[in-house]
Amino acid sequence: MPQISSKGRTMPESPIRKLVPFAEEARSRGVRVIHLNIGQPDIPTPPQVEEAIHKVHIPVLEYTHSAGLAELRAGFAAYYQKRGLAVEPKDVLVTTGGSEALLFVFGSIMDPGDEVIIPEPFYANYNSFATNAGVVVVPVNSSIAKGFALPPVAEFEKLITPRTKAILLCNPGNPTGYLYTREELEALRDLALKHDLFIVADEVYREFTYDGRKHISVLELKGLEQHAIVVDSVSKRYSMCRARIGMVVSRNAELMATALKFAQARLSPPTYAQLASLAALETGDQYFEDVIQEYDRRRKTLVEGLNRIPGVYCPNPSGAFYCVAELPVYDADAFCAWMLKEFSHNGETVMMAPASGFYSKPALGRSQVRLAYVLKEEELRKAVTILEAGLKAYPGKAL
Ligand SMILES: Cc1ncc(COP(=O)(O)O)c(C=O)c1O
Repeated sequence: MPQISSKGRTMPESPIRKLVPFAEEARSRGVRVIHLNIGQPDIPTPPQVEEAIHKVHIPVLEYTHSAGLAELRAGFAAYYQKRGLAVEPKDVLVTTGGSEALLFVFGSIMDPGDEVIIPEPFYANYNSFATNAGVVVVPVNSSIAKGFALPPVAEFEKLITPRTKAILLCNPGNPTGYLYTREELEALRDLALKHDLFIVADEVYREFTYDGRKHISVLELKGLEQHAIVVDSVSKRYSMCRARIGMVVSRNAELMATALKFAQARLSPPTYAQLASLAALETGDQYFEDVIQEYDRRRKTLVEGLNRIPGVYCPNPSGAFYCVAELPVYDADAFCAWMLKEFSHNGETVMMAPASGFYSKPALGRSQVRLAYVLKEEELRKAVTILEAGLKAYPGKAL
């Protein structure tokens, strides 16, 4: 028999999707499943995106430049400039989603066996990208009791070895919704400069911040010009996940030239999606104001609802559209599966993502779940009622 690679065998399965067969089974029994497990926004894509696609006429659908259409790179640079960040078109490389941007960045800055320090819980696909690049993820635990604030920089410093190449942050965070403060980012900046490490900031949720808080980008931290790399995406920002357009942004010319070689190997990002993204950049400020207000209302509905359930604790997130909640159950993986396999309340149940998959050691997040507030408030209220009823009826081990 031909053999699958050990890398292929160790490639992790998505924790967000592993309960999908149970959800399908529930649906086939006639149970309606409310999906809080996945960050798929229901917000309409700005209308000019679809209009732009209807208008294009491309008789020969050629490859574009490997770094993306020049006008799109200029458009993205203008987007950052409008937000006070000194980014030029040459600092932008268009990718097939933020996912490909992460692949290119990992490949550009790390060799097999190199290490990247990441505060956990973290976006589970970082494990997959690390496996792909042969890179070792070194976690620093951030605790739910402290609302997932950045652990003290001394905790990071203890983990630095000659193989450490980078610190990876998701800001605001998926799964935690945590929004890093300027002080936290500056402390990390000082550490990165001291040890000459890259700071890779995944800022795909950068527009979604609440309570009057402003997102701070690593691109605005003085002294980090050669060390800061941003991974970004149009997926969530303009509710256009299926377009598959993202970008690498950095003022480090050598890094950009290296990432471009990875981009050349895949030839070019998709043309129609680039044109759609160009149209998305025309989206007015009012769109963001409305969307942020909508997410903010949903956040309040979900987080307040969760915290009213006896035994549940959910810190209030300041960004993105996720939260992590501690449930009064011993094993949230088993509880989430049970909610789909055996429980329904008035013909409905709730699907959640067990948080264990967002930690390096599943035991750390054993009682936690990640919830995405990408559904209307009415659905979220219903989901809270169903979860409360489920917790009351659960025959499994309590915490
Ligand atoms: C934190 C984070 N980074 C990157 C991505 C990748 O997004 P995309 O490839 O759709 O741009 C996602 C998608 O959910 C995400 O949550």
